[in-house]
Amino acid sequence: MSQKKYYPLLVTALLALFFTQCTNRSKRSSRGQVIDQKVDSLLSKMTLEEKVGQMTLFTSGMTTTGPTMRDDYKKLINQGKVGAVFNAFGTDYVRKLQKMAVENTRLGIPLLFGFDVIHGFRTVFPIPLGEAASWNPSIAEQSSRVAAREATAAGLQWTYAPMVDIARDPRWGRIAEGAGEDPYLGSKFAAARVRGFQGDRLSDSTTVVACVKHFAAYGAAIGGRDYNTVNMSKRLLWQVYLPPYKAALDAGVGSVMTSFNEYNGVPATGNKYLFDTILRDKWNFKGFVVTDYTAIPEMITHGYAAGKEDAAYKAIQANVDMDMQSGLYLSELPKLVKEGKVKESQINKSVRRILKMKYRLGLFADPYRYIDADREKQEILSEQNKEIARKAGRESIVLLKNKNSVLPLSKDIKDLAVIGPLADNKRELLGPWSGAGRGEDNVTVLQGIKDKLGNGTRIHYAQGTEMTGSSQSGFNKAIQAARQSDAAIVVLGEKASMSGEASSRATLDLPGNQQDLLKAVQKTGTPVIFVMMNGRPLTITWADAHVPAILETWFLGTETGNAIADVVFGDYNPAGKLPVTFPRTVGQVPYFYNHKNTGRPKDPDNKFTSKYIDVQNSPLYPFGYGLSYTTFDYSNLTLSTDSMSVDDTLKVSVDVQNTGDRTGKEVVQLYTRDMTGSVTRPVEELHGFQRITLNAGDKKSVSFNLTKEDFSFYNKDLNKVVEPGKFKIFVGTNSQKTMQDSLEIVD
Ligand code: NOJ
Repeated sequence: MSQKKYYPLLVTALLALFFTQCTNRSKRSSRGQVIDQKVDSLLSKMTLEEKVGQMTLFTSGMTTTGPTMRDDYKKLINQGKVGAVFNAFGTDYVRKLQKMAVENTRLGIPLLFGFDVIHGFRTVFPIPLGEAASWNPSIAEQSSRVAAREATAAGLQWTYAPMVDIARDPRWGRIAEGAGEDPYLGSKFAAARVRGFQGDRLSDSTTVVACVKHFAAYGAAIGGRDYNTVNMSKRLLWQVYLPPYKAALDAGVGSVMTSFNEYNGVPATGNKYLFDTILRDKWNFKGFVVTDYTAIPEMITHGYAAGKEDAAYKAIQANVDMDMQSGLYLSELPKLVKEGKVKESQINKSVRRILKMKYRLGLFADPYRYIDADREKQEILSEQNKEIARKAGRESIVLLKNKNSVLPLSKDIKDLAVIGPLADNKRELLGPWSGAGRGEDNVTVLQGIKDKLGNGTRIHYAQGTEMTGSSQSGFNKAIQAARQSDAAIVVLGEKASMSGEASSRATLDLPGNQQDLLKAVQKTGTPVIFVMMNGRPLTITWADAHVPAILETWFLGTETGNAIADVVFGDYNPAGKLPVTFPRTVGQVPYFYNHKNTGRPKDPDNKFTSKYIDVQNSPLYPFGYGLSYTTFDYSNLTLSTDSMSVDDTLKVSVDVQNTGDRTGKEVVQLYTRDMTGSVTRPVEELHGFQRITLNAGDKKSVSFNLTKEDFSFYNKDLNKVVEPGKFKIFVGTNSQKTMQDSLEIVD
């Protein structure tokens, strides 16, 4: 096409796009006005008790015969004193509860149904830490989309995800639920998950409203002990911990959950600075805030509230809209209003936010629209969903070691040992927070391998040992299996329940005598492929020193065995990179790559520098680390300028070549360092990454554009600014192996 013809077309297309956007925006805002009017009209009819009811969330229970609701909660639902229910799913059951609210209460306000759909509903995807290892936010968006489709088919409209808490301490079991230690990577995944859950429109009956959690700084529990106190400067909060929550808000997240910890001496659930100042005033959040489970009365235990009334008072004063599970809003708020301590207008604000969400979800138009038995049958655990889980699984796997290219194994291998307590286990593959997932749905590693190989391979399976415990009675069978084989796949790790909530560990070793089993198999001389399953970094220094191949597979969910077999036999070339540092020993934690330099950085020749006398400073595997079956070479790092002003854009480019003999994916990572600041700055910070595919021998130029946003930070007065001065730019394959150049930003 000639340029002359091309321009009018382009202009027409741009104009059309502009008008469509304007029309959409105005449709949205008029829809918003209609909802506001409806909410106001409903609110004007509500009694104080009914209003407080909307601010109340109770759990459903579960027995061996299925879900049940406590009688007292049923009574409250029938009286219009419950606004939302969680842990209730399944079309028949949800319909029954919804019917109570809609048909038996004075105003017929529908219930909102929530659940922890963290990494899948029935089709279970990799744990979020694992999915973050893909460095592919779009896979997290896809898995969240599937999770939302399945969850909505079963009656749900609200998920308590994404959890975006930065975690720098692997002892903390909930590190499994987030995207790891880095705010930049964490923000990309936070936004992707919100997009996946919420889709384009909340009114679509296949989308759920997301709930970003736990606001704020929950991941910084001292000593990695869950629920413990957090002690953090405002600077660290703003610089490192807040960005992923903000990214979720920018992606349009509809709700926020409070955290159990205190911030600056005040429990989050009563913390005005967090909810009033940051969330509402500075970030203009319009959705609603729910507490974490019984977090209101826990303020009494924290020593911040004198009693129940005071706790409810402090939570509402902090602008917290909904009470999860304690019932204290229900029992205390009407009294507080009548005593004149809380204004009814304050209650109205919260109720308005909650009702607005119910309207946006379309619940008033049809309270049963998310209850779809046909869709439940068709969509849940569909082949298509499982295929996405398999893809997500493969992308989450990190190749930590591959000496002498032990991997991939040939599919013609004659004898293969498959060993370990996790090799043929279904249940543990779900990992923590597995939604409605069931062990029986899962493909074990043994099964995945069998399905991959033809009859030409003899598989020798041995469990070897238990997950925990010290009995070596199974070792001999495992040793025999290895001796008979050309290679041994040894599948070891944590139980699913060892990470997630309330699952902090003081040690990071393989549990029980699993490492002894690994040693025994290794001793046979058969090449060992150590397949790890775990919800956190583990200290595997022995394995790293002795075992030729190591695959980090986290917990991959339903399709575990298939995804692992794809990688082991080379149908997929692994490309995952660690979203979190792996320490050598637990004594090094908290450990994170974006640390400060200190005044005495490590000098091996000077004792009086910052180091341990009994272990190296370096991690076992750094942030961003991960190998491939091929190799990549970096060259020709180029900056578009070596001096620029604050508002300029820096273009950084680098050549990456696949120097191996097979196609592979590489995550090219860009880090920056601000050399001098009004406050000290980290030695490096991630500010860009690109996932590229290169055929054997191919070379590609990869470029990044860095703007003001990438060079700015919270200065001594906590303002986000760029301070002119020298910066370093690093580009490479992980946070430690980079090329570097520098530039100056001038006034
Ligand atoms: C407590 C957990 O901290 C939170 O993440 C979860 O959403 C709620 N329980 C509800 O299950």
